[in-house]
Amino acid sequence: SKVSFEWNQQNSFVTVDEVNTYKAEVASLHKVLHNKTGAGNEFLGWLDWYERDHVEELQKIEKAAKDIQGHSEVLVVIGVGGSYIGARAVIETLQHTFYNELPNSKRKTPRIFFVGNHVSSTYLSDLIDIIEDFEVSINVISKSGTTTEPAIAFRVLKDWMEKKYGKAEAARRIFVTTDKEKGALKTLALKENYETFVVPDDVGGRYSVLTAVGLLPISVAGINIQELIDGAVVATKDLRNPTLLENDSYQYAVLRNILNKRGKSIELLAYYEPNLNYFAEWWKQLFGESEGKDGKGIFPASVGFSTDLHSLGQYIQDGHRHLFETALYVEKPRHDIIVNINEHDLDELNYLAGQPMSYINQKVLEGTTLAHTAGNVPNLKVTIPALTAYHVGYLIYFFMKSCAMSGYLLGVNPFDQPGVEEYKKNMFALLGKPGYENRLKN
Ligand code: PA5
Repeated sequence: SKVSFEWNQQNSFVTVDEVNTYKAEVASLHKVLHNKTGAGNEFLGWLDWYERDHVEELQKIEKAAKDIQGHSEVLVVIGVGGSYIGARAVIETLQHTFYNELPNSKRKTPRIFFVGNHVSSTYLSDLIDIIEDFEVSINVISKSGTTTEPAIAFRVLKDWMEKKYGKAEAARRIFVTTDKEKGALKTLALKENYETFVVPDDVGGRYSVLTAVGLLPISVAGINIQELIDGAVVATKDLRNPTLLENDSYQYAVLRNILNKRGKSIELLAYYEPNLNYFAEWWKQLFGESEGKDGKGIFPASVGFSTDLHSLGQYIQDGHRHLFETALYVEKPRHDIIVNINEHDLDELNYLAGQPMSYINQKVLEGTTLAHTAGNVPNLKVTIPALTAYHVGYLIYFFMKSCAMSGYLLGVNPFDQPGVEEYKKNMFALLGKPGYENRLKN
């Protein structure tokens, strides 16, 4: 079985005829995408990246990961945005829920900590408290090599590593993922002789999780990166079909656009496994940064069910009607626990005795869909057969392909992010960075 997208008229409030009115437009945008003639075409490297030969690069990543596993108990991953969230999403989706807390006898690979994705000194100094008695390696990731948040964290931790290990040993434990030739981080890596990995020129941050950007930390966490790529390769083939009703990723894009036009301007990605929390964060960056521009875009939000059914559930059911919901449903959880029978039944749960919790979770989803559609929240559904590396690789490609088509349907460039520059320029001016003196003068 495969990752699949399901919608029907009853739950989505959209008819097949309505979807079919997009047939010709989708076929033509498919050509624009694959012939690389549309907006942002210089960032389409991800589109067929997985099918190209990456044997050598994957081997290099796996070798570095083995080295790190061999000499380190902790890997600190420094990065922000597209250079952070994908690795965290995949690791948290595929690894043990309490990965970092597991005793060594149960966790054979290094603990992974993320930093450099904000400017909190409390976080950074608390992190140092946690890692100081362990053997540590660092993977610092920045495509531009100049982003402030990771650069500050790296400056502090580089110093810390050199004090702990001395310069030469620290250099052996620092791994840099950045542009192949430019940027401050590249210059630093060359000077200090750090091992480097390349962020491809033609792949933007939020589309880069299945390149060295995400793959090195993912591999250190003991996840099979070849299986992730295998899933993405199959998705690349499956989702190359230009026919709308035969291409799940294009149908998802069309449904989103139809609902958006009806005033459903917020999409809730609803997941039913807590391991998917960071996957939803990755999805939010992907769609939010790709579509939110030119006064357009669906605001991507996420909810974890059933947790949030006991809080935001009220708003979703009865609040302002600008929402639609996409359930991200895992068919077969990694573990299933059967509800046991109890002689006294004081908790009145014997009616569930013998049922697996996955069955109950499925009923949570079905009950939620019934309730929310009755409350005029259209419902779509993406099903992932199981949380394996293969299926997650497929799912990542599915969302990236949908996002590209959805952005083109909306009439925006889904591959740039001019808006995120604004705060950076103001911050630089306020901090007195040379070159930004004139920005705040007017
Ligand atoms: O998607 C994006 O472009 C951003 O989220 C970037 O990934 C983020 O700002 C980090 O940039 P860099 O990798 O250059 O440090």
